[in-house]
Amino acid sequence: MTRVIAVANQKGGVGKTTTSVNLSASLAMSGGRVLLVDLDPQGNATMGTGVDKNGVENTIYEWLLEDAPLSQVVQKCNGSFELVPSNLDLTAAEVSLMQMAEREYQIRNRLQKEATEYEYVIIDCPPSLSILTVNALIAADGVLIPMQCEYYALEGLSALLDTIEGIKSHSNAELKVEGILRTMYDPRNGLTRDVSRQLIQYFSDQVFRTVIPRNVRLAEAPSHGLPAILYDRASRGAVAYMALAGELRQKHEREARLMSHQNSELPTANESADSEPNTEVRSDLNTDRDL
Ligand SMILES: Nc1ncnc2c1ncn2[C@@H]1O[C@H](COP(=O)(O)OP(=O)(O)O)[C@@H](O)[C@H]1O
Ligand SMILES: [Mg+2]
Repeated sequence: MTRVIAVANQKGGVGKTTTSVNLSASLAMSGGRVLLVDLDPQGNATMGTGVDKNGVENTIYEWLLEDAPLSQVVQKCNGSFELVPSNLDLTAAEVSLMQMAEREYQIRNRLQKEATEYEYVIIDCPPSLSILTVNALIAADGVLIPMQCEYYALEGLSALLDTIEGIKSHSNAELKVEGILRTMYDPRNGLTRDVSRQLIQYFSDQVFRTVIPRNVRLAEAPSHGLPAILYDRASRGAVAYMALAGELRQKHEREARLMSHQNSELPTANESADSEPNTEVRSDLNTDRDL
């Protein structure tokens, strides 16, 4: 089964692209095929993957607007994940999309037809709640929300959660919040710890246990056109994204087990025990120690 994850937060600079690229690379390193869709006209995920956004023949524009097949659009990245590249043409696509029938379903329709062989599809959303982001949310099984633990972090989150609720009730009932990811985490900063505590208080187990530390290797890697795990595998940033990939996979395996138990008429006692949710107590102390 292909899982589609939209990495979204309408705030810029919170770590969406860094997360999309490094999570894609980590998932590809630890398992099956991964497709990263760069849905931001800035093309940062494209450049950060080592693909020249202005030199490629086909981009997401040709895929969405000119019916180019996915196979002719994807770029293979360093033997790791595959990428649908993007550049400023996507801004024009946004305008054309507005005039199309089923304009919000374009990405979903294409992924359902053409992306069935991937284990994961990761969509790097632009910093807005535009038609592009709505397309991603309608195509997605889950939304991963990167957040920087700073004073204004929660501002804007309710608009995103409202959008997600709206899409759930009208267009994609299966959509769920995959998790909130604390990025650029600095455990020495008291404000970071306070905001982190608040997030856990409000969103409890929707907050990923893995935190992404502030790490210079994560910021340097894109200028080498590489995900951090290929640039410096032992760096704290790379290790954190590998841990995130592990946490995500475990969560999905648990969900799949639960689903199959729910579908079987008479689960055995053992199977029921197996499907117990992870009740490990989480606290900021754990978080800090993880770093
Ligand atoms: N964990 C991190 N540690 C250090 N720098 C980071 C980290 N995550 C992101 N950055 C840097 O912060 C900036 C914004 O991150 P980016 O992933 O582009 O955010 P977004 O896609 O949400 O706009 C980039 O320069 C990136 O390299
Ligand atoms: Mg970005």
